[in-house]
Amino acid sequence: MENFKLKVFRYDPETDAEPRYEEFTVTYREGMTVLEALLSVLEKQDSSLAFRYSCREAICGSCAMYISGAYVLACRVQVKDALEGDTVTVSPLPHMKVVKDLVVDMSKFWENYERVKPWIINDGPAPERERRQSPADRAKYNKEIDCILCGGCFAACPSGANNEEYLGAHALVWANRFFVDSRDTAKKERLELTATEYGVFRCHTVFNCVEACPKHINQTEAIQNLKKAAMAYRLGLTKY
Ligand code: SF4
Ligand code: FES
Repeated sequence: MENFKLKVFRYDPETDAEPRYEEFTVTYREGMTVLEALLSVLEKQDSSLAFRYSCREAICGSCAMYISGAYVLACRVQVKDALEGDTVTVSPLPHMKVVKDLVVDMSKFWENYERVKPWIINDGPAPERERRQSPADRAKYNKEIDCILCGGCFAACPSGANNEEYLGAHALVWANRFFVDSRDTAKKERLELTATEYGVFRCHTVFNCVEACPKHINQTEAIQNLKKAAMAYRLGLTKY
């Protein structure tokens, strides 16, 4: 294959009446990622194309997009794997306002992340050096800390699409990450923040988040853990 088509969502709310898709012909290179294809368009064909990226190696989470029917990181998915015929179709993450082209407004995503207090809360006396943790306790949140806050799960979730107050899988993953942390003493507060109609009980176990996650985090499992803990607390089986 010498060339392929890159069909890109274009929309500038300040100047365009309607969104549209624009096709670019891009020269293929073995191993080329979709991000590289977008950069090639930006450098050689249209310098007005807007998209986010930074690390180019699946670490920063800023290049999450909807590419040929999948929620993926543009810097990780290769063109050859995203081709439908001779075309790769690139759209912004859905359910968020488009700022320009492939750039979406992530304010709600970050706001929800902050709502779950993603930091250690410990009301005990400050330690002389550090709060220590056994390897077994540390292993309890091994997967959750891989989250790169890309927004893929947030965009993929139908519960979030239907209710913008829903915290979202990313926020609940981080809530669970601190809930299971042996150094954290705010268990009750964390359940109060998340075991609500707009928190864990809004998750209908559709598993879109699991499918969308580039870091293979099982968000549904984290959410179920918080649900179980909340039920045990409400039934008086656990005290905090
Ligand atoms: S849980 Fe996965 S999909 Fe969701 S924000 Fe984190 S890395 Fe992205
Ligand atoms: S550019 Fe950082 S995750 Fe893709």
